[in-house]
Amino acid sequence: MKRFAVTSLITALMVGGAACRVPPSPAETPSVEPRLQADQSALLQSIRDKDQGQLAVSEEDGKFLRVLVATRGTRRALEIGGASGYSGIWIGQGLRQTGGRLVSIEYDPVRAAEAAANIERAGLSDIVQVIHGDAFVEIPKLEGTFDMVFLDAWKQDYQRFFEVTFPRLDPGGVFLAHNVVNKQAEMGDFLRTITTSPDAWSTIIAPSGEGISLTYKIR
Ligand SMILES: C[S@@+](CC[C@H](N)C(=O)[O-])C[C@H]1O[C@@H](n2cnc3c(N)ncnc32)[C@H](O)[C@@H]1O
Repeated sequence: MKRFAVTSLITALMVGGAACRVPPSPAETPSVEPRLQADQSALLQSIRDKDQGQLAVSEEDGKFLRVLVATRGTRRALEIGGASGYSGIWIGQGLRQTGGRLVSIEYDPVRAAEAAANIERAGLSDIVQVIHGDAFVEIPKLEGTFDMVFLDAWKQDYQRFFEVTFPRLDPGGVFLAHNVVNKQAEMGDFLRTITTSPDAWSTIIAPSGEGISLTYKIR
């Protein structure tokens, strides 16, 4: 009797219209498989644990990057300052959903090698390419344009990196920069530029207090 009532209720909901659609079964849901997700959480935590210089973005900022990448349908992302791959893994997880790719450039040879190994462990080598080198030298060698740039290198270089990459950003693309709240004193010229540019809308969000500027390229 009880079983009949439940079945009738589900049938009524389905007949009642698309708005009442029964949620997809896990098998239909396009997602990273649960085992991989658990492995990636442990991997992300282990990168944080070894990060003595506290270079990696906060977990909250990592989650924000993943959600932004996935909701925008990002396809061609560039990261400047990849360190050991922490933020690259969050961005890569978002790109797994969109079918996009990330190029992550890291100057320090040890950190670049760690990043490549961590990306491999995360099962994201088909999505994230780590390039070891100075981004000022490496970016001109890359072909095409980007629909997202994430800047997290040394703060005094932010204005120059914006000048180098903003022309390579598609209209409708976004330029993000990290630490714009907790290190704003080191990047006054950059913050003035993004808030006064006639070609961009900028806002700042601070999921963890470090601050990420979000600059939308209008044209
Ligand atoms: C704050 S850490 C990046 C952290 C990383 N985004 C994360 O969340 O895991 C800054 C990194 O930028 C790198 N860097 C600084 N200047 C650079 C440049 N010109 N080209 C490439 N990497 C650079 C540094 O070696 C350092 O590892």
